[in-house]
Amino acid sequence: MSMRADGNRILSRLEELYECGKMPDGTHSRVAYTPQERRGRQLFSEYFRQLGITVFEDAAGNLIARLEGNDQQAPAIVIGSHLDTVLDGGRYDGVYGCVGGLEIVQLLTEQKRKLNHPLEIIVFADEEGIRFGNGMFGSSAFCKASLSELDGQERDIYGMTREEVLKTCGVDLKEAAKAARKKESVLCTLELHVEQGGNLDRRGVPIGVVTSIAGVRRYAVSLTGEANHSGSTKMEDRHDALVAAAKVIGGLPDLVRKLGEEFSVGTVGKITALPGAVNVIPGRCEFLLEFRDSDEAVMERLAVEFQRRLQTVCDGGGLRMKMEHLSSHVPGKMNRQIQEEIAKASERQGMPYLRMPSGAFHDSLWLTQRFPSGMIFVPSVDGISHSPREYTKQEDLENGVNVLLETVLSLD
Ligand code: GLV
Ligand code: MN
Ligand code: MN
Ligand code: MN
Repeated sequence: MSMRADGNRILSRLEELYECGKMPDGTHSRVAYTPQERRGRQLFSEYFRQLGITVFEDAAGNLIARLEGNDQQAPAIVIGSHLDTVLDGGRYDGVYGCVGGLEIVQLLTEQKRKLNHPLEIIVFADEEGIRFGNGMFGSSAFCKASLSELDGQERDIYGMTREEVLKTCGVDLKEAAKAARKKESVLCTLELHVEQGGNLDRRGVPIGVVTSIAGVRRYAVSLTGEANHSGSTKMEDRHDALVAAAKVIGGLPDLVRKLGEEFSVGTVGKITALPGAVNVIPGRCEFLLEFRDSDEAVMERLAVEFQRRLQTVCDGGGLRMKMEHLSSHVPGKMNRQIQEEIAKASERQGMPYLRMPSGAFHDSLWLTQRFPSGMIFVPSVDGISHSPREYTKQEDLENGVNVLLETVLSLD
């Protein structure tokens, strides 16, 4: 294969897109539907325009660049990922898959190499789900006909409803389900992503062939005790909601180790003590909890035990509790044949590879439900992600794109 990924070009685009997320406090975020993310999408569209390719948005706000193939009626090969980030995220999560897809389009265009199938590079909207506590909005719309049972918080972290937020970006929630694609219109989907864990880096293996993606279950938990004066209320007279929550949250690692499986995880990523003053005993505590595993029954077991422990602590301390389901997604299996194609493509590229599950979720989690889907991982140094310290070496960025290109050519 004469076409090789240009690592300098990939890096400079990643850096330019990172700068689109510059915040007033000096951190970088492209949270979905914010001006920073919009700037990123504009720049990404501009890269395509420079190649003579116009991009368009579907009804759910997914950004699509389509390169026609020899057979315009043939189903498309889709390369999809996301440009949105978590708060103060890194330079690679999501955006690498988009820039990698763009790199392939650029190589094909420059070499005047036309595929048989159309090739679509898709930036799926709101993968991270930061605003409403769920995720993969764009890919879910792409895969299913109805968005009527959207889960997550009713209002986002800025107090807006999804309908309001989407409107600011020209998307009508009532129309978003029209983004659903017919099965026959997509040959397969591919996603290139940094591993976000340390398996490849530790072993010095350049390519991961993803076998499955863990499912996720999220809960909004609230404990209600009694707010009172922190100076005059004796320790034995308190109904401190934060202390009660802390007792159970502190036991979370142990709970997951005892009742979970090898890759089970549980996290409380956000907690609020109310009313929130240095001299008031927290009368209320609210937190967000999630479990992830590749087996639904395991997540159920972990959630049931967590709730039981919480109830016991609340009963013992005169508190009330509520644990409400917030959002969830079933685990996904990557297509076997595509896994083989990626493995063979790696071999042809002289790249050792590792077959591995993904603990993080990706747009591909939704895509597996409707289309044959494959995912390629490249190493994350020290397994750091969802952090500005996220780092992947240039050579690994290039390798991932070369394996993706090789896979596209063989699937075509
Ligand atoms: C998103 O990337 C997630 O796995 O939470
Ligand atoms: Mn992420
Ligand atoms: Mn991602
Ligand atoms: Mn993800």
